[in-house]
Amino acid sequence: MCGIVGCALRRRASDIIYGGLKQLEYRGYDSAGIATLSKGQISIVKKQGKVSALENCASDLDGNIGIGHTRWATHGKPSDANAHPFAAGKFAIVHNGIIENCLELKREFLSDSPFSSDTDSEVIVRLLDKYYDGNLLTTLKKVCSLLSGSYAIAVICADFEGIAAAKFKSPIIVGSGADGNFAASDAPALAGLCRDISVLEDNDFALITSDGIKIFDGDLNEVFRPVRPNLATPANLELGGCPFYMLKEIREAPYAVANTCAVFHTAEGEVKKLCKNINRIILTGCGTAYNSGLVAKRYIEQFARIPCEAEIAGEFRYKNPIVGGNTLVVAISQSGETADTVEAARLAKSANAKVIAVTNAPYSQLNSVADVVIPVAAGPEICVAATKSYAGQIAALYLLAGVLAGKDLTDDLQKISEPCKNTVENTDISAVADMCARSSGVYFLGRDIDYAVALEGSLKLKEVSYIPSEGYPAGELKHGTLALIDESAVAVVVITSERLAGKSKNAVEQVLSRKGKVAVITCINSIAEEFKDRAVIIKIPDCGEYLSPLVSSSALQLIAYETALLLNRDPDKPRNLAKSVTVE
Ligand code: F6R
Repeated sequence: MCGIVGCALRRRASDIIYGGLKQLEYRGYDSAGIATLSKGQISIVKKQGKVSALENCASDLDGNIGIGHTRWATHGKPSDANAHPFAAGKFAIVHNGIIENCLELKREFLSDSPFSSDTDSEVIVRLLDKYYDGNLLTTLKKVCSLLSGSYAIAVICADFEGIAAAKFKSPIIVGSGADGNFAASDAPALAGLCRDISVLEDNDFALITSDGIKIFDGDLNEVFRPVRPNLATPANLELGGCPFYMLKEIREAPYAVANTCAVFHTAEGEVKKLCKNINRIILTGCGTAYNSGLVAKRYIEQFARIPCEAEIAGEFRYKNPIVGGNTLVVAISQSGETADTVEAARLAKSANAKVIAVTNAPYSQLNSVADVVIPVAAGPEICVAATKSYAGQIAALYLLAGVLAGKDLTDDLQKISEPCKNTVENTDISAVADMCARSSGVYFLGRDIDYAVALEGSLKLKEVSYIPSEGYPAGELKHGTLALIDESAVAVVVITSERLAGKSKNAVEQVLSRKGKVAVITCINSIAEEFKDRAVIIKIPDCGEYLSPLVSSSALQLIAYETALLLNRDPDKPRNLAKSVTVE
């Protein structure tokens, strides 16, 4: 959430910054702004709305040095005034994170400063202005020592021909390219600009000029941070002929599964070593990542017979959890930057638990906290709603289940590729999407692993279509939620297990008898036959009970996508949301 870009170039900076911000827009799209430095003068343009709001004015900015920001509002509503960059005296800054003590800082040090916004971030530039001692780096260090919370900051100063950056708990990478040197929140901003990047560590600072990049630790000693390839390239950020990233990424799920399988060997040995003597497992994450943990809990317990719980990371970290040396905590996160998940992993480490990270971001904070990383190889996911990364997480966790059970499950996953492709390419979802788009609410129902998938189907639909929705265990419907069913309601019932089909179909009957509309997603012929005249049937391939989520979830993602389109929503940038939630 919130994307920052900075550069010191041998050419004009504003269009490069604009291009970088476009690539970071998945991190927030409430407002955008750019500041450049030319002959000691700082100029700023900023506007409420998406980055494209800057398209015409960004080119007015002169200068080879600049910073830019795309915002997801936390403190202060989306508006021009609350858009970054903020300026004071000789400085302009952009910030990603939250300054938790901003009220105290304002009261204690800045009571006479003329604030122009409602944001927490503006205190940073006011403090820089107040404490400036002629040295950008030492002043930035002093200001950072006053801040509590999280920050990735990029600064320009009228006295310095470059930019300065500071990092604590929010990500910053730096890189060099043919035109000069860069800093950014994430690799896509530097796709096509830098072949290699370095990741700043907490408390690091950087000074970036057109000649080079210097990185300093918290004591301002110059340090080296490893140089790694930038995996984001212009080619893997393209839409590939799809109208939206969401569709492109749903279609890429089979590759996410295959590639995750292909790289698992890089972690397998370490996972085996780490998991000796484990007697309890906690899967933790937020949103979709948590939902993939709910799926994995089912097969880990079945295969490995080790008690396993799934916990929302933001709850786990505040409940004084019971974990110890024989507990394995698996922290799941597409971005590897979600604040609650990273902190949950840190907490587990500090309690001596073994920690595995399952991430789609090889250089992320979560990876650096974990004992071992199981990579999800889904490639960059741009749509705010997670789709292919969910499939990759399910695959990675399935392989982990294999290690815990002492079985090689790679064959199972390889076999799934064709049915997955078939589902994402050929499933006709239009009748269900039409039903959902006209409904007052959509209830996703299932039992056991189908219930775990139903929760994800519901999250996806509400996220991109804004239709009220709940995921519910099919057997629980009659204990309260049935009161919500009338002719305006839709139930999407997932039935993939022969074992439970006889039970799940009761829920279909219960909804139909209250005049609700029903769609059944099933691989079971007898169920399809039984309801074909009373419900919309989405037939999916039979992939066995524990891998069925890889196909049923694709059908549910397609329902969410097509419903969003019918309602004229932008599925890639749902209102109020951002990818990579780096604040609490
Ligand atoms: C939903 C979605 C979010 C994320 C959640 C965790 O479509 O994308 O619920 O799953 O914010 O994000 P990561 O996986 O980056 O930790």
